[in-house]
Amino acid sequence: MLKIAIAGLGNVGGSVVRLLQQQRDLLRNRTGKRLAIVGVTALDKGKKRSCDLTDINWVQNPLDLAATDADVVVELIGGASGVAYDLVKAALEAGKHVVTANKALIAEHGVKFAALAEDRGVSLMFEAAVAGGIPVIKTLRESLAGNHVQSVQGILNGTCNYILSSMWDRGLDLEAALKEAQDKGYAEANPSADIDGVDTANKLAILSALAFGTVPNTSNMTLEGIRRIVPTDLAFADDLKCRVKLLGSAHGDASGIVQRVGPCLVPLSSPLSQVSGAMNAVMMRGDFVGDVLLYGQGAGGPATASAVVADLVDVARGNKTPPFGQSAEKMQKPSVKASDSSRYYIRLQVADQPGVVAAIAGVLRDESISIEAIIQRGNEVAGSVPLVIMTHRSPAVAIRRVMTKLLQLKEIAEPPCLMPIEE
Ligand code: HSE
Repeated sequence: MLKIAIAGLGNVGGSVVRLLQQQRDLLRNRTGKRLAIVGVTALDKGKKRSCDLTDINWVQNPLDLAATDADVVVELIGGASGVAYDLVKAALEAGKHVVTANKALIAEHGVKFAALAEDRGVSLMFEAAVAGGIPVIKTLRESLAGNHVQSVQGILNGTCNYILSSMWDRGLDLEAALKEAQDKGYAEANPSADIDGVDTANKLAILSALAFGTVPNTSNMTLEGIRRIVPTDLAFADDLKCRVKLLGSAHGDASGIVQRVGPCLVPLSSPLSQVSGAMNAVMMRGDFVGDVLLYGQGAGGPATASAVVADLVDVARGNKTPPFGQSAEKMQKPSVKASDSSRYYIRLQVADQPGVVAAIAGVLRDESISIEAIIQRGNEVAGSVPLVIMTHRSPAVAIRRVMTKLLQLKEIAEPPCLMPIEE
């Protein structure tokens, strides 16, 4: 028997309980063990839930789970600090396996906890922390173990993808689409984590760690969310045969890695452009395997529970892998590669008057950035008109300087919207 204690009975926790109950026989056949829930805890015992907790021991204080006779503690509380942190630490110190869906915790403290798990000879598993039901952690850590991974890129936040899809397909504004995503149970407790890109950043940091053997790090990423995207951008993107997607991408080689989170123009020829609604997808490239693409539900209770239970099955089978695919002490501090470059889309709201394009072109010329196309459509509304510039491939550092200089032009009515155009 594998004795399981679960902390957190929200969307995901409730689904984990249901899955373990509903698929009891299947799991026993596949592991040779009974997967038994020996304790649960959540903030509110009286809350109406979709799972049956009859006959399951309710523990008032989550930290007490670390002192039960459970073999494995499942942490579904969330957050990089507080109770989630204390519980994972206490459970590992007590020699219990830990399964968690907590991307913030793994992105911030994953290596330290991996070292602790290795020291105690237990597993620390976090398949559910990235891209919900998609088995991307196992793929990078195990299936691609024979490759130098060159890049990882994905749509990692279901809420943002749902919002961008709804804005394009149904003409919803960001608030209405976010409200729908929240009602469907995709969004984080604090929606800023979704729409400002923080959730994607945490997930990308974990994927980079697995891909490149580096300590997860969000502070060396360029990070932007989707607040600046307006329907006009989606229409311009369509004209350019692209869709707007919030992507997390990391690529690297011996000279270092580049990690970027932000909205991008993705050509319709790329499979990532076809990923809509709350779905997620991750593309990986390895030096021997070539391209690998995974697609599936990146959020929501049942899909995320599927990933949590996959980790529990590994624990039940006695499969043990270092949490990041190599010993925690071998994880390197990532060195940042300086030479990131891309083609760019820049949308400016400008006064519709002579000399504006010349002034903007001067800023680009001064940074040696070559213009591929300029599009101005429609008439002035509320004193400004959208002007879109597409650049040839340009260094990211130069584009950032351009953004700062453009803001200083009196003809520019609001901060520009900048998006790389994916190849
Ligand atoms: N808020 C996240 C998303 C949930 O929308 O993808 C899964 O991490």
